[in-house]
Amino acid sequence: MPGGCWHVSNGQEADYPLCVGARHARNCNFGQCRCSSCARKDHPKLPTYACLSLDDQRRPKEFARDTTGKDDFSENAGPSRCGYYRTELRVKQSSHKGAELAGTIELGDLKVNRLGFGAMRLCGDYAWGRPRDRQHVNRVLHRAVELGVNLIDTADSYGPEANELLISQALYPYPSGLVIATKGGLVRPNRGSWVPDGRPDHLRRAIEGSLQRLRLDRIDLYQLHAPDPNVPFTESVGALADMQRLGKIRHIGVSNVTVAQLKVARSITPIVSVQNEYNLRNQISEDVLAACERLGIAFLPWYPLGGKRGLRAQRIKEVASRRGLTHAALSLAWLLAKSPVMLPIPGTRSIDHLEDNVLAAALKLEPEDLDDLG
Ligand SMILES: NC(=O)c1ccc[n+]([C@@H]2O[C@H](COP(=O)([O-])OP(=O)(O)OC[C@H]3O[C@@H](n4cnc5c(N)ncnc54)[C@H](OP(=O)(O)O)[C@@H]3O)[C@@H](O)[C@H]2O)c1
Repeated sequence: MPGGCWHVSNGQEADYPLCVGARHARNCNFGQCRCSSCARKDHPKLPTYACLSLDDQRRPKEFARDTTGKDDFSENAGPSRCGYYRTELRVKQSSHKGAELAGTIELGDLKVNRLGFGAMRLCGDYAWGRPRDRQHVNRVLHRAVELGVNLIDTADSYGPEANELLISQALYPYPSGLVIATKGGLVRPNRGSWVPDGRPDHLRRAIEGSLQRLRLDRIDLYQLHAPDPNVPFTESVGALADMQRLGKIRHIGVSNVTVAQLKVARSITPIVSVQNEYNLRNQISEDVLAACERLGIAFLPWYPLGGKRGLRAQRIKEVASRRGLTHAALSLAWLLAKSPVMLPIPGTRSIDHLEDNVLAAALKLEPEDLDDLG
């Protein structure tokens, strides 16, 4: 077997005859390049994902296909001289900066446009495994950035791991000002399960993994995905604060929290954002949104479109038809109008839907529309 791929995490050389990384011995998409002619000093620091996954029982079954030689991550990509595959797409600057029209919000010392992008659905169905069309995912991510989106939300549990890799492989080196907001604290034993793991040790390892996959030295916004009922919340948040002190995290956010939990988190470390479900159908986190407003911190509503039932709600239909808007753009415009700290992160695999969603940034709803939407 030609050498060429080793586990970045433990420094052991891979010894799998069918290892995808070894197949790309000189052009390894996953591991560190060892080719003698390599001219680059800044070798990619991606984990040897395919190698690791062969003996990793927790990995999604779908990934096993890689051992047959199919490798989505290098599809249609060309090897660069340093010996790793680079996607052909590059972020182009565009004069159409739609998301900017939503205004901006501060995340600590960072400023982002108030309309982001949720990347979760770029994985396979149920946020599990890889997408069928890797190049299409690249196009969606690039289009989002072209449209002025400068906050992309992800998590280590989406895929798991695959979502962060999709982002770095599409967008690295990242355009200046792009904030990747990732999360940790949930694990996926299988496609249907999201299990909290807020143990400090797990969170520390999760952060190191996200740093590698995202190819970052420091994560701009790291969010605790959910409190773990089996671990004191203070310990989970404390672990993030420790990693922040070590320079691995720039800012900390929390997700799926109550007002009381937000208060506890803030007593340990500065919190710059909260991510809870919130949409036209479900405003159960109204009190958390109000707390964010009082504190002047960002509120990222997840599931901002409220699913198909949300988009089909009668009151949305009526206002959308009166204003000649799509249901999705109207729902997002309602969120943006609801609060100056609102930072929606709608997700889609469709470029048409993405463009539709970004249109919301330019919409100004009339008081009558807002009354009718409730
Ligand atoms: N913190 C948490 O616990 C948590 C939980 C869930 C999600 N999140 C985050 O929040 C982000 C958004 O949440 P989400 O994906 O669940 O909900 P969402 O953004 O409200 O909805 C996405 C769904 O709506 C469809 N859609 C998107 N734009 C549309 C449009 N213009 N017209 C019609 N349909 C449209 C998408 O299908 P198409 O692909 O066909 O467009 C997809 O099925 C996720 O990506 C993730 O980053 C966080």
